[in-house]
Amino acid sequence: MTEQLGMRTPRRLIVTGGAGFIGANFVHYWCGKYPGDRVIVLDALTYAGNRATIAPLEGKANLRFVQGDICDRHLIDQLLKEEEIDLLVHFAAESHVDRSILGPGAFVQTNVVGTFTLLEAFRQHWLAHDQPDTFRFHHVSTDEVYGSLEPEDPAFTETTPYAPNSPYSASKAGSDHLVRAYYHTYGMPTLMTNCSNNYGPYHFPEKLIPLMCINILLGKPLPVYGDGQNVRDWLYVEDHCSAIDAVIHGSKPGETYNVGGNNEVKNLDLVHKLCDLMDELAPDLPVRPAKQLITFVKDRPGHDRRYAIDATKLKTDLGWTPAQTVDSGLRQTVLWYLNHRDWWQPLLSQEYQAYYQTVYASV
Ligand code: NAD
Ligand code: TYD
Repeated sequence: MTEQLGMRTPRRLIVTGGAGFIGANFVHYWCGKYPGDRVIVLDALTYAGNRATIAPLEGKANLRFVQGDICDRHLIDQLLKEEEIDLLVHFAAESHVDRSILGPGAFVQTNVVGTFTLLEAFRQHWLAHDQPDTFRFHHVSTDEVYGSLEPEDPAFTETTPYAPNSPYSASKAGSDHLVRAYYHTYGMPTLMTNCSNNYGPYHFPEKLIPLMCINILLGKPLPVYGDGQNVRDWLYVEDHCSAIDAVIHGSKPGETYNVGGNNEVKNLDLVHKLCDLMDELAPDLPVRPAKQLITFVKDRPGHDRRYAIDATKLKTDLGWTPAQTVDSGLRQTVLWYLNHRDWWQPLLSQEYQAYYQTVYASV
């Protein structure tokens, strides 16, 4: 990996959404790899944010947690200035497709207005410092902006036209376009990564893999949408963190990179793998074999059939490849959920139960 433009070290960075799933994994990754850097975690602590995930790092002098909204321009201006920030890594978002179907407003607010607020604040901050070429604004986005693939279609590349199908992916597409415009219009040093479905430690229970792991442990039905033949390309979260690291350090400004795990799996096959792993690794399951719990439920409206990422550009330009296969990553993930009941049990709150009832009324 090359040090592009000799970025200043130690860096001073804001990580938005750093108490969420990927953001918190990234904070752990970054603090472990670059202990000299100053890390400001900015997170509103919505239902998906969990300060406990980064609590072990909070005692460290170089990490500061700030509870706040990315739409709060005054707060962003203040943090950029007083912390002398030169790198902003933007994870904060409303991230769950099913919630975007129930209530799209929060998605437009955080994902579009929030990203705009950060871009504009960062631009003013960058201008105030005479536009240093060492500053970076890294926007984390999704492959869902490209829409849905047919079984034989080639995987998404960075030039695949945008065709978002859910309120979630449409709001992320809107934010991506703003990031692109800030580079092209103002020359602001932006970077962007569009990645496939992540999985691993600290994943909120509403998403497929943690939901299945937890329901198996609780002996509850495993709700598979539709015919279970939808395909996702699974990326272990630590591989995603190393990809962002590679892009921040190696890419020139204005670039976009797709990040994928080379792990296309049909949902039903994935659930079978999780059941097999739980049967093997969990000593006292309420229902065994766990496969008995699989229940087909009404499909998600507008459910994208297939996502697949072509990450050739990232490999060719920056030498990045994922370290985990889906089998090695799932084994680690299942073990993590088995050993961290204390992390996920409190998240099955009243709010979560109410959400669950709404989405899975028939189960
Ligand atoms: P998450 O829902 O687990 O975490 C989002 C975090 O953002 C939470 O901590 C939440 O409190 C915070 N947040 C929400 N609104 C905020 C606001 N207005 N101000 C400040 N903080 C706010 O999401 P995630 O899965 O960790 O995803 C992180 C990023 O990666 C998102 O931008 C998402 O679109 C993108 N992404 C996720 C996946 C995936 O598989 N999870 C795949 C591709 C891209
Ligand atoms: P999810 O984890 O919500 O990610 P995304 O919708 O962003 O891809 O879902 C992954 C896949 O699993 C998706 O095809 C929907 C499916 N799914 C189920 O079949 N059952 C469930 O209970 C959930 C949450 C998802």
